[in-house]
Parts: sequence; structure tokens; C-alpha cells
Amino acid sequence: MKILFYSTKPYDRYWFEPLGRDYGFDIHFLELPCNEETVVLARDYDVICVFVKDLVNASMIQFLYEHNVKGILLRSAGFNHVDVKAAEGKLVVLRVPSYSPEAVAEFAMTLLLTVNRRTHKAYNRTRDFNMSLNGLMGVDFYQKTAGIIGSGKIGQAMIRICKGFGMQVLAYDPYPVKNLDVEYMELTDLIKESDVISLHCPLTSGTKHMINRNTIAMMKDRVFLVNTSRGSLIETEALIEGLVNKKFGGVGLDVYEEEEGIFYEDRSTEIIQDENLARLMTFPNVLITSHMGFFTEEALQAIAIVTMENAYMLENGLPLVNQVGVLAEKK
Ligand code: NAI
Repeated sequence: MKILFYSTKPYDRYWFEPLGRDYGFDIHFLELPCNEETVVLARDYDVICVFVKDLVNASMIQFLYEHNVKGILLRSAGFNHVDVKAAEGKLVVLRVPSYSPEAVAEFAMTLLLTVNRRTHKAYNRTRDFNMSLNGLMGVDFYQKTAGIIGSGKIGQAMIRICKGFGMQVLAYDPYPVKNLDVEYMELTDLIKESDVISLHCPLTSGTKHMINRNTIAMMKDRVFLVNTSRGSLIETEALIEGLVNKKFGGVGLDVYEEEEGIFYEDRSTEIIQDENLARLMTFPNVLITSHMGFFTEEALQAIAIVTMENAYMLENGLPLVNQVGVLAEKK
């Protein structure tokens, strides 16, 4: 099987190269992203392998289909960056449904603790022998209320972590998990009652901008908001308005609505054109990271193993347990 990898970094090759050899796959690694210009490079391949920053739209899928590409391997759990509806009946889309929920949940807690206790600022101060504590005061999370939106694999890991901190934990999920040791409630009640809100649901047309002017107005003053799921769950302009109005104790964002084309590369010498991102960076109580919740050794290794298994299943006509899309859901 000939596989074209897009958007690869050295850390991808580290895991994929030896595995690909073991499976006997003919893999070509590109650093280029997959987009309307680069999709032509996939002409002679059986499948392509993409990451979350690769947006694969309907016209790209049509091109791939017309050039006998059989499938798209996603090196991710989320699949909102691929038009899976357009792929129905043309290309098989296979994802890695779970690799290390703990990696993302632990990172959500990292963001929360950092933005609360300002350790990132303290680190810079003490390196300069500035030992002042002014402006670094945080709050205890012990006995505070954490509201977890989405109680899937990552949400459940976050629930366990928050309980370990001695927090009271609430959850909202349209499909509550039976026997999960958490208090489920309606979304608006959770938003009103939580001191910390952490987003762990997928991005869909129903969840887009679930954090907006209305929901922010319902939140407690000095609330902490963490988003490690997808940027568009939050309406950025409403968030900025809330920050200006001092609504938030802290905001930790591993994802951003317009992250495509910005995240994952060194932009330190560029003039950033995204006004909202530039504004967000100016708030002392906002911490932004470049979509790295997944970035642990365990998670990357698991992504490589499952992605190569997906390719093997596809090549050998075996049941495609990790297929996404309408046809997959009917199975
Ligand atoms: P999952 O599929 O196990 O859980 C998602 C949960 O969200 C499910 O229980 C589902 O019922 C629930 N849900 C669906 N619609 C909802 C709604 N309207 N409101 C509240 N909950 C809703 O997915 P998993 O593995 O827990 O991942 C969650 C999200 O985390 C992914 O969709 C992805 O966007 C993000 N993610 C981020 C990573 C990062 O590096 N920052 C890495 C991996 C995933």
C-alpha cells in the first residue's frame, strides 16, 4: 500500500517509520499540509494520512476519488476537518478514536493550574531575580465546582482528575454514561453552578459557539474556562468581550477558532494578522497553547499503532472498526 503522509514533523516519523516498514507499506512523508494545492501530489497513492490542521473538503475528496485514492487515514480522534459526508461512498475515512485520553485531560488540568497560579509568569520572574509575588495570587480549587461538558473518554479522565483535587464535579452530556460517578445536569445549570468549566465534547453544528455571549453571561464571575477540544466551541469575540468585562478568573485555550494556518509552526518572526488571537494574547489571565494536549510519548505511539492497523485493515478487506461517517454509523 502506498501512503502519502501530509503535515509530518520529525516526531511523527519517529513512530511511523519503523511501524510502516514492519507492515511493508510504501510511505512518503511530506511536511506540506494537505490543501487544494497539495492534494494533487496524492495522485499515485492508495491512501493519504492527514493531521487535524489538514482541511480536506468536498472538492479535494472528489479529486482523490477520481484518482483512485481509496481512503483517508486520520492521525486524530476528531474528524471535523474532513468532509466525511462528501467522502461517503467514495473514500473510506478512518480515525484513531482513542489514544490517550489522559494526555489531553492532564493537559487541561495543566492549563487550569498554570493560568490560576501563574506559574508561567513566576518562572520568567524568578529567572530575572524578580521575586515579587504581586499579581500572582490564585485560588484554591479544593471544594470548588468543576463543570465537565462532554463525558466521553477525555471528559471521564478529567472528572477523575478533578475529583482527585477534592472538587465537586458536575457533567453535561446528551448521552450520559450509565453508572458514572458524577452528577449530570442540564447544560445551563452546569454553566451557572461551575467555578471551572472544561470543554470535552466534539465540534458539531450543534456545539459550535456553545460558549457565546448568552452562556458567558450565565457563568459565575471569576469563572475559569478551559478548552482542549476544538476552538469553534467558543465564540472568540464573545470570549474577548467577557475578558474585557473581567468575567473570567482565567482562560486556558489549547485550541483556537482560527488556528488552521497559524498553529504548529514557528510564527515568531511574522506579523500576526489575526486580530482576535493577538488580542487574546494580551490578557494576563489567558494562556494559549498550540493544540498540544495530545502530545505525549504514549499518545503518539498509540496514534501510530492504530493508524497503521487501520491501513492494514483497509488493505486486507478486514472490518473497519474505526471508520467515520454515515455508513459507519449504520453498521
Ligand atoms: P468521545 O467521543 O469519547 O467523547 C465526546 C463526548 O461528547 C461524548 O460522550 C458525547 O456524547 C459528548 N457530546 C456530544 N455532543 C455533545 C454536546 N452537545 N454537549 C456535550 N457533550 C456532547 O471523545 P473524546 O476522546 O473524549 O474527545 C473529546 C474531544 O477532544 C474531541 O472531539 C476532540 O475535539 C478533542 N481532542 C483534543 C485533543 C487535543 O490535543 N487538544 C486531542 C484529542 C481530542
